[in-house]
Amino acid sequence: MAYIEIKELTKNFGEMTALDHVSLEFEQGRIHGIIGRNGSGKTVMLKILCGFMKPSSGEVLINGQTVVPGQKQDMGIIIEVPGFIDHKSGLKNLEYLYGLNHKADKEKQKEVMKTVGLDPDNKKSVGKYSLGMRQRLAIAQAIMEDPPLLLLDEPMNGLDNEGVAEIREVLKTLREEGKTILLASHSREDIAVLCDTVTELDHGKVISRTEK
Ligand SMILES: Nc1ncnc2c1ncn2[C@@H]1O[C@H](COP(=O)(O)OP(=O)(O)O)[C@@H](O)[C@H]1O
Ligand SMILES: [Mg+2]
Repeated sequence: MAYIEIKELTKNFGEMTALDHVSLEFEQGRIHGIIGRNGSGKTVMLKILCGFMKPSSGEVLINGQTVVPGQKQDMGIIIEVPGFIDHKSGLKNLEYLYGLNHKADKEKQKEVMKTVGLDPDNKKSVGKYSLGMRQRLAIAQAIMEDPPLLLLDEPMNGLDNEGVAEIREVLKTLREEGKTILLASHSREDIAVLCDTVTELDHGKVISRTEK
């Protein structure tokens, strides 16, 4: 059984079909790339996978369980720009978000910030962060609860070359730990260096699927 099974997934917005009978399987412990030009349906697919959006028809199973829209899933996600509290520091933001579901653990948040290349002692408010720093903080919030599955929509956006290289290493380490990662990107290079499988979407349809 595949870890993620997508069966005949369709999403319509009025007359417009964003996903058109997409069926896919993703194995555990690998990095799966999803590629496709703007508007091909990558974000809509990830939103349905994490239960943010209800499909028009079809089904998603993760670890054998049907994803129910609106129900909390055990996964880390970056989809579009995540919201942070702009007038607080990065560490305070992570402490707050972590505290929603867990007992506070400041040391853990400090560690996770270091993992993504942020200084936990930097008191700068998130509102003054560069796009690259925000993106690193977004990755930190996605991984801090140690979820088995990560859905990352364009996680390299706004990072300089050095940042991209660091985040690639972080993702490879997470794969070594057995995490499953779905990575939507329009960067063919990220996909080429990181991904074990590559799925290409176009106009809501799967047009190719390759395995390394
Ligand atoms: N909430 C929405 N309402 C209407 N159309 C939408 C909505 N979300 C996405 N779409 C449309 O669905 C298509 C796929 O979008 P999206 O998944 O965001 O593409 P990608 O992430 O591959 O760039 C696009 O044509 C987009 O305009
Ligand atoms: Mg998108």
